[in-house]
Amino acid sequence: MSLDKPYRDIPGTTIYDADQARKGYHLNQFAMSLMTPENRERFLADEAAYLDEWPLNPVQRQAVLDMDLNAMIGEGGNIYFLAKIGATHGLSFQQMAGSMTGMSEAAYRDMMIGGGRNPQGARLKDLDGWTPPSTEKATTMRPDAPAKFTSAVFTSHVPAIGAAMDLGKTEEPYWKKVFDGYEWTRRWAKENTPDVVILVYNDHATAFDASIIPTFVLGTGAHYPVADEGYGPRPVPDVKGYPEFAAHLAQSIIQDDFDLTLVNEMVVDHGLTVPLSLVYGELGTDEKWPVKVIPLAVNVVQYPVPSGRRCYELGKALRRAIDKWDGPELNVQIWGTGGMSHQLQGPRAGLINKEWDNAFLDHLIADPLGLTEWQHMEYVDEAGSEGIELVDWLIARGAMDDQFGGGAPEVDHRFYHVPASNTAVGHLVVSNEVAPHLAESASANASADESANQELEEATA
Ligand code: DHB
Ligand code: FE
Repeated sequence: MSLDKPYRDIPGTTIYDADQARKGYHLNQFAMSLMTPENRERFLADEAAYLDEWPLNPVQRQAVLDMDLNAMIGEGGNIYFLAKIGATHGLSFQQMAGSMTGMSEAAYRDMMIGGGRNPQGARLKDLDGWTPPSTEKATTMRPDAPAKFTSAVFTSHVPAIGAAMDLGKTEEPYWKKVFDGYEWTRRWAKENTPDVVILVYNDHATAFDASIIPTFVLGTGAHYPVADEGYGPRPVPDVKGYPEFAAHLAQSIIQDDFDLTLVNEMVVDHGLTVPLSLVYGELGTDEKWPVKVIPLAVNVVQYPVPSGRRCYELGKALRRAIDKWDGPELNVQIWGTGGMSHQLQGPRAGLINKEWDNAFLDHLIADPLGLTEWQHMEYVDEAGSEGIELVDWLIARGAMDDQFGGGAPEVDHRFYHVPASNTAVGHLVVSNEVAPHLAESASANASADESANQELEEATA
């Protein structure tokens, strides 16, 4: 089931979508570079030399030298970017638009004065055999879809956990109690390495500062450097993205009425790297994470933040997008990270609410739709101002198969511990189906589970 892109067939029209954006990335960025007088001067003085600074393909390069806008658009250029090249040459939008029609400048201007181009005969609708695409939202998932959403991982993401790993403190009694809760997961993760993790997290005024507050960000880039949050970048591998799959997800989710911000270049902070470290262990900068990662960042820094219900619905749109993928077979995990209860500010700092956290976990597992009715006030009042990070988890949960008529998911592992720094640590591994090897290794894991359960009982007592 391929995505509907009927706009590709509109006569004489190239729609700039994520595929085109990837193709034209350097061409468009080159065009943007002409927004300073110095660069325009250098470009006009020696176009070929200036273009040597940009990794354009030969067709793109020649198209710029020829000022051939149709060729540039075919190669992924977008008219608003390319207009900077035209403006550098002193061209108006009317001259640029006219240059693509095969008409003379005068004939094009006269056509516009005469009322513009008549749509009659210039529409897709005028072609034989065209039917409008379906706008229905799927409520069940294809059993044979090439991309399978296998498991969800939920975890807190405290920066001090990353520091404990980076500074070799994981065996200290304080930290051992935290890391013991991830032992099971690390064993499981070795046998259950997906191709790609869609990692839902929240940026902490790292990639996004006060100049821009996007509510939902989908990372469509190929590579995300590890951020310097003020104490130097964590000594862990940079993160590799999956642009093709991310572009597909973006196309489907935005057409499913979710207005994502698409980001090709950003650094990733502890919200994303600490969960990777917790699951995949200590890896140095010369190593690689075993998975591709598509970051999905939720604004929880500045109010208003999205509701739990909105996040759950985004999860559903995400699941429908995964289902529509018709590329290579993929094992996909979705991780929901952040939380649990913590407050990092003001006289109420240090707030922990074990009862509420565990009620959240119970509802997340058994009653996610009910959980969507919990309001912001509830999160902040009960779980602390930074406990709001827990809305991230609803995205991963809303995507699970039982929300599309499938069976209840299996809780493979559950852990809860207080504290890590200022935070209650919560962690779940939940699978859409019991993988056969899990059943086999279940007895081996029983003792680890028992101690985790005991810890849970102690923590909730
Ligand atoms: C802490 C927890 C967080 O989630 C965070 O983003 C920063 C700090 C903490 O407990 O110290
Ligand atoms: Fe956080």
